[in-house]
Amino acid sequence: MLGSAAKALFHLLARSKLLKKLASRVGMRSSTGFARRFIAGETVAEAIQAARAIETRGLMQTLDHLGESVTSLAEADQATREYLQMIDAIVDAGVGRNISLKLTQLGLDVDRASTVDNLRKILARSEPRGFFVRIDMENSPYTQATLEIFETVWQQGHREIGVVLQAALYRTDADLERINALGARIRLVKGAYREPKTVAHQRKQDVDAAYARMMKRLITAGHYPAIATHDVVMIELARRWAAEHQVPSDRFEFQMLHGIRRDVQTRLVRDGCRVRIYVPFGCDWFPYFMRRLGERPANVLFVLRSLFGESG
Ligand code: FDA
Repeated sequence: MLGSAAKALFHLLARSKLLKKLASRVGMRSSTGFARRFIAGETVAEAIQAARAIETRGLMQTLDHLGESVTSLAEADQATREYLQMIDAIVDAGVGRNISLKLTQLGLDVDRASTVDNLRKILARSEPRGFFVRIDMENSPYTQATLEIFETVWQQGHREIGVVLQAALYRTDADLERINALGARIRLVKGAYREPKTVAHQRKQDVDAAYARMMKRLITAGHYPAIATHDVVMIELARRWAAEHQVPSDRFEFQMLHGIRRDVQTRLVRDGCRVRIYVPFGCDWFPYFMRRLGERPANVLFVLRSLFGESG
C-alpha cells in the first residue's frame, strides 16, 4: 500500500545523519525555510509568538519543545531544564498553559527511573501554575512503558496530565478502557509511526474504522477527550455522534497540528467547537518533520518548491 510504503521510506530517510545535517542548514532559514510550515521556530520566543497568533484566531494551543530518543542522562537533564524554562516563559508571556512532551526526550532509552524523576520535576513546576501536560505516544516499543509511567504518576496523585493513544495499534481498545477508567484525559490519534503487522493495522480503512470506534467511545464515555485528526470525515462523524448523544461541544476538543488544514481549524471554531493546535518548536525538528512528509508525500513537492524558490 502506498501509504505504508511512503511511511517506511520517510522513516528510513529520517535516520540519515547526512540528510538531517543538510536539512537543518536550510530548513528553518528566516521565513523561506521549508520546515517553517510545520515547525513554529527554533526558539521559545518564536513558539510563543505562534501561540499568540493561534489564540488571536480563537483557537487554543499546546507547545512542544521537539526532541526525542536522547542517548544520555545529560541530554535528558538538558531537555528537562528546557521544559522548566519553557514553563516559566509561557507564564511570563500569558499564553495558554498546555504543553506536550515525549518520554524518550526525558531519557526513556537510558534509564526509566530518571525519566520518571524528570517528568515529576516538570509536573512540580507546571501543576501549581495550572498547566496541563500531555505525554505524546511514540512507536510501539515504547507503548507499554509510556502507559506504565503515566499510570504511575497518576497513582501518585497527579491529575493535570494526559496521554495519547494510537488507533492503529491492536492493543488500543483495551488500553483505552483501562486509562479511561482512571478518569484520565486521552488524546486519540491514528498513529504516526510505521508499525509491523503483528502489532498494528496496515490498511488505512482498518485504521479509520478503529479510530471511528474509539472516538465514539471517548465522546460518550471519556473525560474531556481530544479528537486529534485532520480527517474531515472523522471530524464530521465526531460532531454528528456528539449531537446525537447530547454531548455538548465543550465536553471534548479537536486537535490539529500547526500548519495543517488551517481552513478546517477556522471553520470548526466558527461553528463553536473547541480546537487546540499542537505547536512544535526547537532545533531538533528533523524526525518530526519527516513524519509529516511520510503522512503526505505531496508535501515533498512543497519542500522542493520552497527550495527551488529560494535558490531561483
Ligand atoms: P489522515 O492521515 O487520514 O489525513 C487526513 C487528512 O489530513 C489528509 O487527507 C490531509 O488533508 C490532512 N493531512 C494529514 N496529515 C498531513 C500532513 N502531514 N500534511 C498535510 N496534510 C495532512 N501521532 C502519534 O503517533 N503520537 C502522538 O503523540 C501524536 N500526537 C498528535 C497530536 C496532534 C494534535 C495531532 C493532530 C496528531 C498527532 N499525531 C500523533 C499524528 C497522528 O497520529 C497522525 O499521524 C496525523 O494526525 C495524520 O493523521 P490524520 O488523523 O490527520 O488522518
